[in-house]
Amino acid sequence: MCGIFGYVGKKEAKPLLIEGLENLEYRGYDSAGIAISTNKGIKIVKRAGKVEELKKALKEENIDGSVGIAHTRWATHGLPSELNAHPHTDVLKSVTLVHNGIIENYLELKNEFNLKTQTESDTEIIAGLIAIMPEKNNLEKLKSVVKLLKGSYALAIIFSNEPECIYLAKKESPLMVGKSEDDIFISSDANAFKKYCSDFYILKNNEFAKIKYNNIEFFNKNKKINKKTNKFLNTFAFENKNKYLMQDEIAQTPDALKETAIFFENFKDIKNYFKNIDKIYLVACGTAYHSCLFGKKYLEFLNVPIFTEIASEFKYSKHLFTKNTLCIFVSQSGETADTIACVKKCKCKTLAITNVPNSSITFACKKTILMKAGWERAVASTKAYSCQLLIFYLLKCLLKDEKPKIKTLIRQSKQYLNSLNLTQLAKKVATFEKVMFIGRQDDYITAKEGALKLKEISYINCTACPSGELKHGTLALVDENTLIILISTKNNLISKNLLTKEEIEARGGKCLILGNFENADIKLPKLSADLMPILSILPLQVLACEVCILKGYNPDKPRNLSKSVTVE
Ligand code: F6R
Repeated sequence: MCGIFGYVGKKEAKPLLIEGLENLEYRGYDSAGIAISTNKGIKIVKRAGKVEELKKALKEENIDGSVGIAHTRWATHGLPSELNAHPHTDVLKSVTLVHNGIIENYLELKNEFNLKTQTESDTEIIAGLIAIMPEKNNLEKLKSVVKLLKGSYALAIIFSNEPECIYLAKKESPLMVGKSEDDIFISSDANAFKKYCSDFYILKNNEFAKIKYNNIEFFNKNKKINKKTNKFLNTFAFENKNKYLMQDEIAQTPDALKETAIFFENFKDIKNYFKNIDKIYLVACGTAYHSCLFGKKYLEFLNVPIFTEIASEFKYSKHLFTKNTLCIFVSQSGETADTIACVKKCKCKTLAITNVPNSSITFACKKTILMKAGWERAVASTKAYSCQLLIFYLLKCLLKDEKPKIKTLIRQSKQYLNSLNLTQLAKKVATFEKVMFIGRQDDYITAKEGALKLKEISYINCTACPSGELKHGTLALVDENTLIILISTKNNLISKNLLTKEEIEARGGKCLILGNFENADIKLPKLSADLMPILSILPLQVLACEVCILKGYNPDKPRNLSKSVTVE
């Protein structure tokens, strides 16, 4: 949530900052702004709305300079207005900063230090506090202020008395520094500067940096420190050929599955970690939680109790951890605050399954399995979900000493995606205001994920219900304005599902079947039951994307959401 970008070098900062923000826009797109050190002082330009709005505004602005910071916002405190957009300053404009995170005690600090503010943001008080600190040295001022802050922050700051430098501070929210021969980049996500740098540094909690031309100094609370650089992993060149990222990312699924399966070879030692475990908790949010529901099914053969929990609930519940309890945390971004907060309470074995190397969850957990889905930037998770299911399947095969059968899956998913044409169906779905997804067993989990996908990008009211449970209450919602999408991939359940369809139609509801048998409205190919969930979600992702576009929305940037949810 919120993306920070910064540049120190010899080039013009403006286009680089804009490019950085465009790369980070998946983290929030309520407003955007930049601050550049020019020879006439620090100039700030901000706009409400997407980076595109800022870009338009900057065409008319002459702000030349080679040191700058930038921000794209997902609003937490205050409306997504130009006033509340970052960068923020103190009253005298001696401190200009961008912030990702939340300052929980900002009102207390504002009152305690009698700070005058102009915006509704929690960030502005950080600039105000730094400005009034008595220390002479900017780094010391910053260190004193962060001691007062409760919450999370990644901060990039320019001081008007040191306009050639950018200072950084980090706690909980991610912050990386990339270095090439002549340029230094700062970002919430290293992918945003990957094009320019092969090496990068990752700031840890309570670390600081002072950056000026060709020079990076790192500090902890007490002293200057040396830090090791990280290299980007070799990544597969995923194809982009559609108008929207979500369309590309769905189409990239077969390659993402293949890359993930190959890369899994590096994690085979994890088998030892499963020895003697007494129970498993699978914890995540949203789509990643749905993959945990499948994870439980894949790991059930272990004959130990397995619990699946939504991270924001797990945090507040009681659990019986022993040294042999294993908690598995699934997170595409590796930065989801709710999930990471859970890791901290687990005094037991912890394993992260994530798509992002060096993300916060990889540092928090004792072990990690990395997927290789490639950068996922559309807010609705698609290819990463498929890879999460694949990891659970591969884990099952590894633990059972079975040979995974994924060649067919990869071939079938490619052929299937190429042959899918859901445009007519999407037109029909787009006319409904209520859509219900139903299924039994695995198909119910797919129904949950299908409903989430459609609702989050098309704003249609979607729910999911186990087919057999309909008649115990939810059937009351069914009328001629309700569309039901029934998922049916299990041979032994087809007749029961057809009966459910009749019950729905008898109440005036419309029912479409997604299934792997002749009369299904959306036909799935035949595939083993183990792998079917990886395939059966594909048409629901494509359908959601098509409905969204037909309704005139941008699937990559659904309203009110952000890809990386770094606040609890
Ligand atoms: C929905 C979606 C979200 C995420 C959730 C967790 O399409 O993408 O529900 O799955 O916010 O995110 P990660 O996996 O990054 O922890």
